[in-house]
Amino acid sequence: MLISLMNSLRILRTSAEFVLPFFLLSHCLIIFYYSGVPAVVDFAAMRDAVKKLGGDPENINPICPADLVIDHSIQPILNVLQADKGSLDSQLNLRPLQWWGSQAFKNMRIIPPGSGIIHQVNLEYLARVVMDQDGYYYPDSVVGTDSHTTMVDGLGVLGWGVGGIEAEAVMLGQPISMVLPEVVGYKLLGNPQPLVTSTDIVLTITKHLRQVGVVGKFVEFFGPGVAQLSIADRATIANMCPEYGATAAYFPVDDISIGYLVQTGRDKEKILCTKKYLEAVGMLRDFKNSSQDPDFTQVVELDLHTVVPCCSGPKRPQDKVAVSDMKKDFETCLGAKQGFKGFQIAPDRHNSVIKFNFEGCDFELAHGSVVIAAITSCTNTSNPSVMLGAGLLAKKAVEAGLTVKPYIKTSLSPGSGVVTYYLRESGVMSYLSQLGFDVVGYGCMTCIGNSGPLPDSVVEAIVQGDLVAVGVLSGNRNFEGRVHPNTRANYLASPPLVIAYAIAGTVRIDFEEEPLGINASGKKIFLKDIWPTRNEIQAVERQFVIPGMFKEVYQKIETVNESWNALDAPSDKLYTWNPKSTYIKSPPFFDGLTLALQTPKTIEDAYVLLNFGDSVTTDHISPAGNIARNSPAARYLTSRGLTPREFNSYGSRRGNDAVMARGTFANIRLVNKFIDKQGPQTVHFPSGETLDVFDAAERYKQAGHPLIVLAGKEYGAGSSRDWAAKGPFLLGVKAVLAESYERIHRSNLVGMGVIPLQYLPGEDARTLGLTGRERYTIIIPENLKPQMNIQIKV
Ligand SMILES: *[C@@H]1O[C@H](CO)[C@@H](O)[C@H](O)[C@H]1NC(C)=O
Ligand SMILES: *[C@@H]1O[C@H](CO)[C@@H](O)[C@H](O)[C@H]1NC(C)=O
Ligand SMILES: *[C@@H]1O[C@H](CO)[C@@H](O)[C@H](O)[C@H]1NC(C)=O
Ligand SMILES: *[C@@H]1O[C@H](CO)[C@@H](O)[C@H](O)[C@H]1NC(C)=O
Ligand code: SF4
Repeated sequence: MLISLMNSLRILRTSAEFVLPFFLLSHCLIIFYYSGVPAVVDFAAMRDAVKKLGGDPENINPICPADLVIDHSIQPILNVLQADKGSLDSQLNLRPLQWWGSQAFKNMRIIPPGSGIIHQVNLEYLARVVMDQDGYYYPDSVVGTDSHTTMVDGLGVLGWGVGGIEAEAVMLGQPISMVLPEVVGYKLLGNPQPLVTSTDIVLTITKHLRQVGVVGKFVEFFGPGVAQLSIADRATIANMCPEYGATAAYFPVDDISIGYLVQTGRDKEKILCTKKYLEAVGMLRDFKNSSQDPDFTQVVELDLHTVVPCCSGPKRPQDKVAVSDMKKDFETCLGAKQGFKGFQIAPDRHNSVIKFNFEGCDFELAHGSVVIAAITSCTNTSNPSVMLGAGLLAKKAVEAGLTVKPYIKTSLSPGSGVVTYYLRESGVMSYLSQLGFDVVGYGCMTCIGNSGPLPDSVVEAIVQGDLVAVGVLSGNRNFEGRVHPNTRANYLASPPLVIAYAIAGTVRIDFEEEPLGINASGKKIFLKDIWPTRNEIQAVERQFVIPGMFKEVYQKIETVNESWNALDAPSDKLYTWNPKSTYIKSPPFFDGLTLALQTPKTIEDAYVLLNFGDSVTTDHISPAGNIARNSPAARYLTSRGLTPREFNSYGSRRGNDAVMARGTFANIRLVNKFIDKQGPQTVHFPSGETLDVFDAAERYKQAGHPLIVLAGKEYGAGSSRDWAAKGPFLLGVKAVLAESYERIHRSNLVGMGVIPLQYLPGEDARTLGLTGRERYTIIIPENLKPQMNIQIKV
């Protein structure tokens, strides 16, 4: 509904640019580390600037609630720094800076490092769904500086990723302006087939959206099928936005979302208000009631019944095989010539059987026999519903009297202790254990070849019969030789299917026609007899998983906070800069700021600093990696008394503009048309000399020459990085002229006052005959508006 509200704003689309109603941006999420340090540095500098102009520094304060999450990735960096002398500098400055941030600002909550995975924290802890602020209720929404921001759309909070500069603006009460997004309605119908797991559904939707083409659009889910998806499923789909290119993928709030709030232990009264409010304003969705379906720009449909359960293999993750075709496919591969889908076994040997003895009992192996069955919980399979599905399947299998043959090497290596926790709490662990799926460790055991040796007699039988033995695992990778040297075929399958194939002991089985096994009372047991339903899985998930995960995250936040609290806490209004620091420095962005707004001026006779082709990424513009020894940044750090060992990376020095300006365009793989070879250099036209980009920019600046950059398509692609806009600004770049831009980078340029100009359709540097050696005068009219045509005299 939030989005349909935006749809109704279409009438405002006079300039194809619209301003999001302020209430939508109720919450700002900044991930500390890459963008968080600069954000607090910027705020500190803004307070200084306001003070200098005679204002009250405290006016620089987030006006909407802001959460600064200190990403765990900063921890190892701090640890490394601790080990050397440069570290003191960072220790003494980064932490107090963050701390100062949490103390000096109202409305800013700092989530200390180590609190858990950020998007999980957001779903379970930070997201409010409905805001209750100053006596008003309004829908929660969030912009965040992390690509996982969209995950929270699964819970009905409209959120998407923005650049750090935009996020800062939002925190200070500036509206976000964006091109009105088209909203694609994604209708889910029907019921999934029994063997289909959440993973199959998520991957099918992701693939479908990629085909539909939703880049830069919003997607909203509707239709009765949505009610089949748990919040974990929805969040996973929403989190895949970067994969299919949508800005956001939104699931409106329904009873399942409200149930989720209850399970994650949110305040009861608040949940009641949330529900009442959403009902009152017509935003609580009943997905089965089609009269509530909104109007969309475009509607696409998926019948959940058409989702087929898949495995992939036998040698590559991209070779998908529908479970129903597995037997046929394997048998085709046996005879096919050597390759990704072939083992070239002579036809008369396809049914070879080798007898062997294991621990005193006789067994047989054939082509297709499963000898390794491993449940690893990695990215594709970490959705709790599939892990629980495996547990419930194990329970039903044991109860029906089925077993796994003892020579099959079975293992369970969950991604984290949380998985073990809910498997144990829900009572399925003992059944997994009875089938041999005991926890052998955490992480990627089998998938990276740590499956350990197979029993000698098994290996002998495989070698004797030249058998294509099989490994079945729930990882992402199955390249030949990776899992085990003696398993020539390796299939990736969902955790419940791993158990099913282990029980069957072979992949040459058609689950529809053939039983998994015959139990001691002579009863044939089929897979469909023991496969848990989605409802069963979701009931257990609701009861055990969600509260368990929540508890873990919550406890961490509490305990981590203790050590955090023990830090020294400067709480002055103004930040005390340490002039000795080479990590944190007051940036010059606000130097020369005046109370009166300055109008944009015509850019006269600019030189072209750099002339690029297509796909210049933010990492080309502002690399995060090592500081090269002979670079301008290295010379600066040396002048500050540091040795190369202490230089550290550009990423770690994001709080120091002097390093970052020198590091702008310092990527050694930069391809600049002015220069024959790759490298961070350019031609300084007045002198004809080839210089490091920073040094050239300094010369232009001293002579009072403005600069521009020429580029091709997708300028600023790659992960969002504020410094890719701040850096060029500090070098004196006034405008970029490109064929197209990445969305967030374009906003960041605007935020820094660097004009992102785009060639008219069908034109580019080549068609206009521009070499970059010209001088450019860009005429800025007084009534400057987005998407207007601008005159450039060359
Ligand atoms: C950390 O502790 C302080 C005081 O002990 C508390 O006000 C703050 O909310 C805690 N922070 C988090 C993120 O829990
Ligand atoms: C369907 O939704 C409409 C609009 O909210 C409501 O008026 C109607 O009563 C609902 N129908 C059912 C069967 O719940
Ligand atoms: C699993 O995820 C990876 C990315 O982590 C992806 O490349 C791969 O295609 C996925 N596997 C399957 C079976 O879809
Ligand atoms: C065999 O399976 C049937 C049906 O699930 C079950 O009733 C019976 O108890 C099982 N027998 C044994 C020995 O487990
Ligand atoms: S090594 Fe395997 S189990 Fe681990 S994350 Fe990678 S694909 Fe998943």
